[in-house]
Amino acid sequence: MSKAPGHVEVRRPARGESVYARYLRLNELLSLQKPEEELAHHDELQFQIVHQVFELWWKETAFELRSISRLLRDAHLSEALRLLQRVIRIQYLLLENMRMLETMSPWDFHAFRQLLAGGAGSDSPGYRELLRLSPPLWDDFRSLLDAAGISLRDVYLSAERYPLLHAFAEALIDYDEVMQTFRFRHYKLAERMIGSATTGTGGTPMPLLERTIHDVFYPELWEVRNQLSTLAQEQGRI
Ligand code: HEM
Repeated sequence: MSKAPGHVEVRRPARGESVYARYLRLNELLSLQKPEEELAHHDELQFQIVHQVFELWWKETAFELRSISRLLRDAHLSEALRLLQRVIRIQYLLLENMRMLETMSPWDFHAFRQLLAGGAGSDSPGYRELLRLSPPLWDDFRSLLDAAGISLRDVYLSAERYPLLHAFAEALIDYDEVMQTFRFRHYKLAERMIGSATTGTGGTPMPLLERTIHDVFYPELWEVRNQLSTLAQEQGRI
């Protein structure tokens, strides 16, 4: 039989393991959760899986953020935009993933919470990478604007003249907003599980966690909205 162009011959592994399982390394992947008989509580398996899913998608996010930064530095704005849209979509997916934990009651969480003593989400390598890689994207974008002699305000005042710059600026603020939504939803999840006047297993008091809700990566993008409103007011539009 003739083979289609680009056909890749894949041999089945000899001993039982399918190509699917081997390619996806399912033996390793599915052994990374506690065996059922070792679970301290029924809901512990879901808790582990939800967190592992976060780490996987944040690994992909960090990979894309590094690519976006490179693309911006090479002035490949439309490809950078495509990847940033992917990054944004991942974070929305993760908001739904986090909601899975709302199917757990606070008392059920207390049945295994002591296993996390000393552990904290702040040790998440994925989240740390996002905190490290996200803010510098602004500098990469800013350099593009500076090189073209265009201010951020110009981009917003004349979006039709700078469609790609405008689309990228809007995608950056989408990303910032969904990350802020993550912080808010995460705070509410934590509050729903352990209350607002307690301290996390990692030692952070809940009021401190609540303050991070207001953190943003790109303050300039939020600030330019104020400038536009002031300008609109000066022009008698509002
Ligand atoms: C029962 C559900 C959860 C509770 C009660 C909870 C609680 C907390 C608390 C209290 C903190 C402050 C640090 C500390 O532990 O002392 C924290 C931090 C954190 N948690 Fe969670 N969390 C939950 C689920 C999740 C999930 C599903 C993720 C996703 C990976 C996550 C990611 C994080 C991150 C990234 C931080 C650090 C935040 C920062 O440094 O600003 N948490 N969590």
